[in-house]
Amino acid sequence: MNKAVILAGGQGKRMKADMPKPLFKVLGEPMLEWVISACENSEISDICIIKGFRGEMIDEYLSGRYETALQAERLGTGHAVQQAIPFLEKDTDGNTLVLCGDAPFIDSETINQSLMLHEQNNNSVTVITAELENPSGYGRIIRSKNGISGIVEQKDATQEQRNIKEVNSGAYWFRTADLISLLGKLENNNAQKEYYLTDTISIAISEGKNAGAYKSSNPDIIKGANNRKDLLELNTYARNMVIEKHLENGVEFVCTDGIIIERDVEIGVGTQILPSTVLRKGTKIGENCIIGSNTVIEGCTVGDNVIMNNVQAYGSVIESNSEIGPYVHIRPESRICEGAKISDFVEIKNSTIGRKTAVAHLVYIGDSDIGKKANIGAGTVTVNFDGISKSRCTVGDYAFIGSNTNLIAPVNLGKAAYTAAGTTITRDIPDYALAIGRGELKIKEGYTRKKLNK
Ligand code: UD1
Ligand code: CA
Repeated sequence: MNKAVILAGGQGKRMKADMPKPLFKVLGEPMLEWVISACENSEISDICIIKGFRGEMIDEYLSGRYETALQAERLGTGHAVQQAIPFLEKDTDGNTLVLCGDAPFIDSETINQSLMLHEQNNNSVTVITAELENPSGYGRIIRSKNGISGIVEQKDATQEQRNIKEVNSGAYWFRTADLISLLGKLENNNAQKEYYLTDTISIAISEGKNAGAYKSSNPDIIKGANNRKDLLELNTYARNMVIEKHLENGVEFVCTDGIIIERDVEIGVGTQILPSTVLRKGTKIGENCIIGSNTVIEGCTVGDNVIMNNVQAYGSVIESNSEIGPYVHIRPESRICEGAKISDFVEIKNSTIGRKTAVAHLVYIGDSDIGKKANIGAGTVTVNFDGISKSRCTVGDYAFIGSNTNLIAPVNLGKAAYTAAGTTITRDIPDYALAIGRGELKIKEGYTRKKLNK
């Protein structure tokens, strides 16, 4: 069976952070996750991740999803793969893909096509390469008339070799059994005193085995980050790549400033995304919506023809034809039903707002179920927390909650129940009833004049 080893042992000193480099995020996801999903998209599920610097952070991130092996000292890429030998030996049939955990844009098409070449040519090793305008820092691909003959690192290269523009991406296919044997033959007699994985190519050739190179037409697959500036570049690249995909799908952008859309987000045809909108993981938006400006949506399903202006929404469902915002916070486990209207300074948490219900201003609805076509007056607050536990409120269809009503949970208001403005509701209200709870209004005539005369 084919499997993969992902190298994630490096520190990335120039990032200036106490974190393994592959955990730095591109479009909200660690670079390592991009590499893992390229494997998964190629149906490779047998994966070993080599951890080193702050390896426990890699374990914590993966939380047991994949096997890891520890490289206790950073002695080079070959040494890193040597740590995977027990993993490789579990099944030596088939091929092993080696990838760098900090080159996020490797894609499953490149993985699949290079494997095809690798198998067709019966190679022991096939390296994935690309041509770069500026190849500086990368290993250069040395070719002879019979094809690839080796890889030479920048630090070991002659001036002439440094002019070569075809570089090693750091991704390879190996026949697993050959990889195990080649790893045993690596030496560290080079400029960096490291065990170079790249030496496997010339060793394989010297043993009469086949080695090949798959040159990708897309040099972006090898992009990595050595510092924060590079990381910003990767983010910019990924951001534009995702926006371009949505443009092709018929999503409208009049200006892309501040728009960040994570890669698994789905957006329907005719939807317009306005500036400074961040659409995070797990978000699905329907057709002909207007989203933004200044809107953050994470883990939400949004229907068709929805307007969301200056909204923060998390882990919720927003049904079609609803109008949300400006200045609305929708917290997890909420459902805003079809055609509801929620606007200025409203917070909804773990609640359902029924069909065509209006919650127009300055309201907190927490842990509650509001029926359809209800009207929730300004300043209404569900008092859902008594300091120890949370309770729910229900409000029936067609209810009219007067301004500044407090609903002391748990409390149930029936169908078409009315509450007078300023009422604190402490008991259930039956269907069609009105609840008024106000202190008696007293008026003291001339009070201020007396005071002022003093
Ligand atoms: C390596 C290649 C080079 C290639 C480049 C592509 C070698 C000798 N050189 O360069 O030809 O063009 O990648 O980016 O392989 N890592 C470990 N343990 C180590 C060393 C590295 O886990 O001891 C990991 C790093 O976290 C990283 C990957 O291996 O994910 C590549 O390491 P890096 O130092 O960036 O690559 P180079 O050695 O510079
Ligand atoms: Ca290195």
